Amino acid sequence: MTRWAPLAVVLLAACGEKTLPPRTIAGADPARGLAVIERVGCAACHAIPGVDWPRGRAGPSLDGFGASPLIAGRLPNRPDLLTAWLLDPPSLAPGTAMPPSAISEAEARDVAAYLYTLDDR
Ligand code: HEC
Repeated sequence: MTRWAPLAVVLLAACGEKTLPPRTIAGADPARGLAVIERVGCAACHAIPGVDWPRGRAGPSLDGFGASPLIAGRLPNRPDLLTAWLLDPPSLAPGTAMPPSAISEAEARDVAAYLYTLDDR
């Protein structure tokens, strides 16, 4: 096993989970998160419930994302990892097509809180 071993462990742990981990983020506000999403233009690349336009197709639709066990098919969908993903995806998944966003960590936590309201997939 080489450099992928830690990733395999993470994925196995995610698959073994019987229930989804807690999706509440202390101090984060979904309404503020939606405002951040609209300001930075996440919808240029994603269809996002609550954002009428645009509905970009470069990235996956985020409809139902809160119910997904994985982020981008490779990381457990946990608040800490989602916040890190929103700030700097390539640091977690080298080569991913999602670029870093110019938002603060607090803003990323608000955005994550909004995404966790999208759980009706
Ligand atoms: C330039 C296009 C682009 C922008 C801007 C962008 N994303 Fe992404 N996003 C992507 C792509 C492409 C993927 C798929 C990444 C992969 O699989 O490696 C992705 C993946 C994701 C995922 C994982 C989705 C899943 O089904 O697992 C989330 C959540 C996400 N983006 C949220 C956001 C949010 C919130 C913003 C704004 C702060 C944003 N993205 C901005 C292109 C973008």
